[in-house]
Amino acid sequence: MEKINFNLDNKIALVTGASRGIGEAIAITLADYGAHCILVSRKADALEGVASKIASRGGKAEVMACHVGDIKQIEGLFAKIKERHGRLDILINNAATNPYFGEMIGADEGVWNKTFDVNLKGPFFMIQQAAKLMETTGGGSIVNVSSVNGVKPAPFQGVYSITKAGLISMTQAFAKELAGKKIRVNALLPGLVATHFSKAIMDNEAIHDIAVKMIPLNRHAEPREIAGVVLYLVSDAASFTTGASFVVDGGALA
Ligand SMILES: NC(=O)c1ccc[n+]([C@@H]2O[C@H](COP(=O)([O-])OP(=O)(O)OC[C@H]3O[C@@H](n4cnc5c(N)ncnc54)[C@H](OP(=O)(O)O)[C@@H]3O)[C@@H](O)[C@H]2O)c1
Repeated sequence: MEKINFNLDNKIALVTGASRGIGEAIAITLADYGAHCILVSRKADALEGVASKIASRGGKAEVMACHVGDIKQIEGLFAKIKERHGRLDILINNAATNPYFGEMIGADEGVWNKTFDVNLKGPFFMIQQAAKLMETTGGGSIVNVSSVNGVKPAPFQGVYSITKAGLISMTQAFAKELAGKKIRVNALLPGLVATHFSKAIMDNEAIHDIAVKMIPLNRHAEPREIAGVVLYLVSDAASFTTGASFVVDGGALA
């Protein structure tokens, strides 16, 4: 048997929401293993900081600002990728938003539209663009960062949870449609991770204690603990893995 290969040399990888948190850890990890990373979020300045970190570790990265809820910006992003690289091997749909914390009965149309635009419409049209490009070079790998909330909705996070459930369904639907084009599509479902996104929980000792009590490993995760699964999913090691959901939650869903 050949040694399992996690090497990503010569691969072009696009990571959305790469300016901090889980997306930053994923981008650094993919670059550590040889991928050229295209770092995407709305704010180029923050992405430049991550690009510098990657460069200081000997990796390759470039910055492309894009609001993933805006289809015109997604089309512009892919036009640039085609022009500069002519290929895309890896897409990580990681950016998401959760603008509303409260009962669904009080959520207005603006909350619905913003959450669905960034968390579902964005990944859908990113996959559409990516698949068309990946097809021209023989395939690729896509990872959608969903959440344990997509399986078990969290209180006061109903709208967000619905989008994350939709992302799991989107993963399965695209996995079946794109398998013949040698494009694998998988979902990652993190539990509680210390990031800006989870600040409301991390900064409130009482809420953090309640959240941690529901996690058998009895703690939250750091972003780097999420990135290893993505490395597996985009590498040759996962050549028979598609349409699957990978839970990394310290046992919370068990
Ligand atoms: N942290 C957790 O406990 C947890 C648990 C389960 C799942 N997740 C999921 O993990 C993923 C990453 O979350 P995180 O915790 O790392 O969050 P984070 O630290 O807040 O980072 C979010 C990233 O998304 C970018 N972003 C936000 N809106 C965007 C938009 N419209 N267009 C482009 N980029 C946008 C942000 O950059 P800009 O502001 O520059 O755009 C930032 O880079 C999300 O899908 C989240 O749902 C997180």
